[in-house]
Amino acid sequence: MAQDNTNNQATGAASGTTESGSSDLFNTAAGWVLFAGIVGLGLSVLSDKYFHGYDAEDLPTEQMGYVVEGVEEEGAADAGPTLAQVLVDADPEAGAKVFQKCQSCHNVEQGGPNGVGPNLHGVMGKPIASNAPGFNYSSALKDKGGEWTWENMSEWLAAPRNFASGTSMSFAGLGSIEDRANVMAYLAANGGAPPKPEPEAPAEEEAAPAEEGAEEGAATEEGTEAEAPAETAEG
Ligand code: HEC
Repeated sequence: MAQDNTNNQATGAASGTTESGSSDLFNTAAGWVLFAGIVGLGLSVLSDKYFHGYDAEDLPTEQMGYVVEGVEEEGAADAGPTLAQVLVDADPEAGAKVFQKCQSCHNVEQGGPNGVGPNLHGVMGKPIASNAPGFNYSSALKDKGGEWTWENMSEWLAAPRNFASGTSMSFAGLGSIEDRANVMAYLAANGGAPPKPEPEAPAEEEAAPAEEGAEEGAATEEGTEAEAPAETAEG
């Protein structure tokens, strides 16, 4: 293409000025100079284009590293509030209503009888399968080990048979984390409980209460809101 143009121009220039041979020669020479210039320019444009392809900035950056598929960032999977967060607003009075599902088998009063299930007064924080010494616990629950922390109790109440496969508690479980939090608050209001898990911000390290003062500490920290309805729930 560059060559065609140059040839046309060269011959055009030649045919335009036919007066003298020297002028012819000059025009031919000029034509070649022009041709060389155009070819040179064309080459430089071409080479620029060609080598430009290797500039680092032109490489598609998203393909420069290895992309590991199927690896998700932590926390992406489980949405929804954590137990600690839900426990902040746990309401023993609402828990009393949830406990109606448990009442056919459990009593929460101090010194109350065992039923189909053991008495639950003060069960929060106790070693698992120990709250009612006279009760005939299943070996599934006795062998579980550990204590009734808020986390354990939530897991147990969500699906008793998953927590202790072979348990004699024939109860499907409480699917709602709010129901579990509320019924645990109700159990806590009936005989106490260890400190609740702290939601995120470890702001109050020095506030970590000593064993004895645990309940009072937790109660005053979270305001009287949680304590007040507990008393009405008991009556
Ligand atoms: C159908 C009867 C039944 C119902 C309903 C029931 N439970 Fe139970 N529960 C039992 C039995 C039986 C056990 C003893 C389980 C074992 O030994 O494996 C038990 C054990 C427990 C324990 C362990 C006590 C300990 O000393 O370690 C807790 C806590 C508990 N139940 C809470 C509840 C709550 C809260 C509800 C209601 C949301 C509930 N249960 C509903 C029968 C029941």
